[in-house]
Amino acid sequence: MTTPDKPGYSSIQIALHWTIAALVLFQLLFGESMVAATDAAETGEALAGKDAALATAHYWVGVAVLVLVAVRLAVRVRSGGATIAESNLVLAWLAKATHWAFYALLVIVPVSGLLTVYVNPDIGEFHQLAKPVFIVLIALHAGAALFHHFVLRDGTLQRMLRPTQNPERGIS
Ligand code: HEM
Ligand code: HEM
Repeated sequence: MTTPDKPGYSSIQIALHWTIAALVLFQLLFGESMVAATDAAETGEALAGKDAALATAHYWVGVAVLVLVAVRLAVRVRSGGATIAESNLVLAWLAKATHWAFYALLVIVPVSGLLTVYVNPDIGEFHQLAKPVFIVLIALHAGAALFHHFVLRDGTLQRMLRPTQNPERGIS
């Protein structure tokens, strides 16, 4: 269970968490324009102006996610994360597994997007799996965060909102 003085995350970790979450949401909401762009490139048909702009945004937002997650992983390895706020061993394991699955996806998904563009368009089929996989993980993760906040009221959500003075102590 959480103790009141439990170490949480630094301000840089919190800023990176919410920036990356917002960018991933953008990618999931507007990724279809990238599919339209690759279809248009294959068939030679004209691409709507809106789709062309959103496809360019998809490219650069995806590259930004890759750069930011590299910074985030470096910070995470150096300062660690907060100790998981679960007394139940299975749920604590599930929380850790979800966090590391996110980190893996945040690298694999943009890299597979770049491979789709520069190596083989067929990789796009694999890259598109990002959508259902991210949606399931986000539902699980945000649902758990809101459950901790509104039902357990144990301050887990606050750890990702308010920086901890001494996050180094929180290596889990
Ligand atoms: C976190 C980063 C990213 C996420 C979450 C993401 C997500 C998605 C999603 C959900 C789709 C398909 C949309 C749909 O099926 O409606 C898509 C398509 C696509 N994305 Fe990404 N993407 C990311 C980064 C990138 C990057 C960095 C590139 C390349 C520079 C890229 C290139 C593409 C391409 C080429 C398609 C079309 C694939 C096809 O037509 O088969 N993506 N992306
Ligand atoms: C694409 C969306 C998101 C991604 C990729 C993501 C990713 C992550 C990752 C990787 C961690 C672990 C941090 C670490 O220990 O290094 C984390 C923690 C956390 N996230 Fe998210 N997150 C997302 C959205 C959200 C949302 C929408 C909420 C709230 C409703 C949320 C609330 C939290 C909280 C409270 C923690 C801290 C958990 C703890 O300290 O035990 N996240 N997130």
